Amino acid sequence: MEVGRESRGIRFAFPAPPRTGRRVAALREARKAYGDNVVYAGVAFEVERGERVALVGPNGAGKSTLLRLLAGVLPLDGGERALGAHVAVHYYAQHQLDALTPALTVLEELERAAPELGQTRLRTILGAFLFSGDAVDKKIAVLSGGEKARVALAKMLVRPAALLCMDEPTNHLDLASREVLEQALATFPGTIVFISHDRYFINRLATTIVEIVRGILTRHLGNYDDYLAAKTRAAADATPGEGVGGGSSARYPTRSEPPPTPSPVRDARSTRASGAQPKQRKVAREVRALRQRLEEVETQIHALEARLREIGAALGDPALYTDGERARAVTAERRRAEERVAWLMHEWEELSAALAAHE
Ligand SMILES: Nc1ncnc2c1ncn2[C@@H]1O[C@H](COP(=O)(O)OP(=O)(O)OP(=O)(O)O)[C@@H](O)[C@H]1O
Ligand SMILES: [Mg+2]
Repeated sequence: MEVGRESRGIRFAFPAPPRTGRRVAALREARKAYGDNVVYAGVAFEVERGERVALVGPNGAGKSTLLRLLAGVLPLDGGERALGAHVAVHYYAQHQLDALTPALTVLEELERAAPELGQTRLRTILGAFLFSGDAVDKKIAVLSGGEKARVALAKMLVRPAALLCMDEPTNHLDLASREVLEQALATFPGTIVFISHDRYFINRLATTIVEIVRGILTRHLGNYDDYLAAKTRAAADATPGEGVGGGSSARYPTRSEPPPTPSPVRDARSTRASGAQPKQRKVAREVRALRQRLEEVETQIHALEARLREIGAALGDPALYTDGERARAVTAERRRAEERVAWLMHEWEELSAALAAHE
């Protein structure tokens, strides 16, 4: 029985990144096009110390592009990128998993990243990322996608940069690993800009939501719930005919097109070919995205329900209560799992309604 394992393992602090000035990173007048697809035509984006910014918006809105421009892994076509003093950047995306060295073991891969931490500390950190005992001696080459993701994330956190740029970091992670990542990032003292389709994850982590629609950025202070509430209010205030159409699909902004919102940054609409995407193709893409997310949500719900059954069994075993700390950890895990199931069920209903509206 492995219940409680992850709750116990994470009681350690990752090394703190070097402290930076208030201004961590900025893009000014940033331009980016792929061929004649102008994604950004002079956009401004600034990140301050300690902020945890979630980028949200419909598929293809330009979230990954913005993150890569900010991280400096994609060159700008125009404008500039500025980093604050002492700011190093770490960029994480799925394809970073290929940057791991197949011939190394899990422990060796981490040692290479942070030799100064020593084996004992690295083993503890790997334990938190659910590699315990002999698992640290596995070769990268034999790891599953989820295991590689955990190694890459651990590697990022043992040598943290002041600015972490993460594109869908919870992809491929099972529930236990998501929890580990959430907790590690929640206590991370640096600055984070991230993209996620996982609303629970966004809500736990974000201090600011930046919505991207048609090359325009809109900042909302607060977490995802606050952002949704603000959007719902805005939709209610909109003049008739201008609203988002009401219904639940409108409350799921990563998959539907919200109305254009006034933006404090330069308006790039005029430079986007608004008729470039035939409407039918756009709808088909949206339906595909909805279906895909619905499937993910269902998988997660099933996994959580299985986990809750395990936890239920563990809590029914009197032996658990001889270890008060472990009993508390298991109880806390059950609470989080239940909370997450509730979230996912809610999202599932919204997704289903949005899909039904298309069919
Ligand atoms: N390497 C590329 N070459 C050509 N076009 C690209 C490239 N990368 C992105 N695009 C286009 O730029 C636009 C923005 O893409 P981007 O990947 O930034 O969107 P996104 O918001 O991250 O979407 P998703 O939610 O699907 O990940 C899209 O129209 C996409 O097709
Ligand atoms: Mg993307």
